[in-house]
Amino acid sequence: MPSADPTPLADPSADLGLHGARAVVTGGTRGVGAATVRRLTAAGAHVVAVARNQAPVPTGVRLVTADLTTADGVAAAAMAALDHLGGIDVLVDNAGRNTQVPDGVLAATDDDWQANLDANLLSVVRLDRALVPHMTAQGHGAVVHVSSNAARYPQPNGAPYAAAKAALNAYSKSLALACGPHGVRVTAVMPGVIETDAVEASLRQAAERTGRDLEAIRKEFHQRLAAPLGRPGQPEEAAELIAFLASPRASYLTGIAVSVDGGILPTL
Ligand SMILES: NC(=O)c1ccc[n+]([C@@H]2O[C@H](COP(=O)([O-])OP(=O)(O)OC[C@H]3O[C@@H](n4cnc5c(N)ncnc54)[C@H](OP(=O)(O)O)[C@@H]3O)[C@@H](O)[C@H]2O)c1
Repeated sequence: MPSADPTPLADPSADLGLHGARAVVTGGTRGVGAATVRRLTAAGAHVVAVARNQAPVPTGVRLVTADLTTADGVAAAAMAALDHLGGIDVLVDNAGRNTQVPDGVLAATDDDWQANLDANLLSVVRLDRALVPHMTAQGHGAVVHVSSNAARYPQPNGAPYAAAKAALNAYSKSLALACGPHGVRVTAVMPGVIETDAVEASLRQAAERTGRDLEAIRKEFHQRLAAPLGRPGQPEEAAELIAFLASPRASYLTGIAVSVDGGILPTL
């Protein structure tokens, strides 16, 4: 596959109309979430990032530590975020995790299914339930769900993850229908392969499982990446779409699920 030159990233100072917006980004300390925190901060938003562990965040960003796979963790995160921001205009439900099942779909245990549902669906449903009513009450707001191309293109070792993300897409549409009349937009973003710690970890797991060389596995993975753009994406490229959808520039967009994948999804 031809390898394209790296594409220049969008100007992070381009005005999105998010100056002063109060935003919560889950999973905001690494990968796509951290890039989204940087993008929203550059756009002038007040941002709360949520993650389980302490980590560096940009100046002015408040980090709230909570495990969003538990109902208690979600409640604590929502309360701390509202307390700090005094309200909410933008919610980016980005935290999620692919608990893979290398032996295939029929080998997936109840625990595998539950872990994927907790991390990718219930965490989002619970946080939305705590925060979205503040948006509907004020008559405006934007919710962006970070889903995955896997929702439309499941892989054999990731059936529970794909099913959880497909359910997230369906839920996202339902929420958009319910919240539209109250001025709140709900959209979903489906990354393809974005170079983050999560992707690196799955390559390492494959190397450990097979006893093969990590670099050989990485090379093979890049060769198999049938993206028309010929490369994996960068977190900033996903963050740009998320920030756009969260902004008033996307004022007539709701109920959609958009891929950011270099064209890798082989279907319409
Ligand atoms: N990277 C890709 O190629 C790709 C492709 C498709 C979809 N996605 C989706 O994009 C989203 C972000 O992925 P990523 O690759 O950027 O992930 P990542 O690099 O692994 O970062 C995950 C972030 O979420 C936080 N997090 C994880 N579990 C959490 C929990 N239970 N409660 C609170 N915070 C939690 C992590 O911090 P702590 O560890 O400190 O909690 C970290 O800040 C996910 O929903 C993923 O499914 C990614």
